[in-house]
Amino acid sequence: MISATMINMLVDLDASLWSRVSPKLYRATLDRGVVLSERQGVTATQRAWLRRSFGGLWSDEVSTGYAWFASDWDGNELGFAAYDCRLDFPWLRRWRAQPDVGIFGPMGVAPSERGNGLGSLLCLMALQALASQGYRRALIGAVGPESFYEKVCGARRVEEFPRAQIFEAGLRHVLQSVATGKWRNR
Ligand SMILES: CC(C)(COP(=O)(O)OP(=O)(O)OC[C@H]1O[C@@H](n2cnc3c(N)ncnc32)[C@H](O)[C@@H]1OP(=O)(O)O)[C@@H](O)C(=O)NCCC(=O)NCCS
Repeated sequence: MISATMINMLVDLDASLWSRVSPKLYRATLDRGVVLSERQGVTATQRAWLRRSFGGLWSDEVSTGYAWFASDWDGNELGFAAYDCRLDFPWLRRWRAQPDVGIFGPMGVAPSERGNGLGSLLCLMALQALASQGYRRALIGAVGPESFYEKVCGARRVEEFPRAQIFEAGLRHVLQSVATGKWRNR
């Protein structure tokens, strides 16, 4: 059954974050031909892949921020972890107002690639990018796989909010995009 609530999680961006990145996993990921790259916004291919694979507003959201992407040598997208995205969601507002808190997410890995550690790697790289910008904590909004974040980066649950907020925010974004003509040109 789908829960009526969603959760926000918080993670400390301290020096221990680096020790969570396994050099062996990093090496193995590169050795199996995964290309890791960081960028601002998304390419047209990435946008289409995000829409096809994850739906919702993620392609619009990621296009407003930064992300670490994983692809293969043929350019097929395998995963991503975004940060500093700018869509205005009510469950992020009070955290955005705190200067030491960076905003993490969304993130996702192609179903065929899950379970190989790629999600862990991308998550930690995006959190490290926030740490290098000077943030001391990161907010992971509207989670999702809570135990994944607990295990990978030591994130902890900080609050719950009604799932209905997600649908309301989605509808508001769609209506605004339609009104400004952005929806047609996505
Ligand atoms: C969540 C997700 C990114 C994980 O990616 P992944 O590449 O499979 O993750 P990893 O292989 O690095 O897994 C790391 C650990 O987390 C665990 N884990 C993976 N997915 C999990 C999930 N959905 N829930 C709980 N634990 C999970 C793994 O079992 C693994 O544990 P182990 O080291 O003890 O074996 C991927 O399942 C996904 O894209 N899901 C759909 C989109 C999504 O929910 N994104 C998060 C939005 S908040």
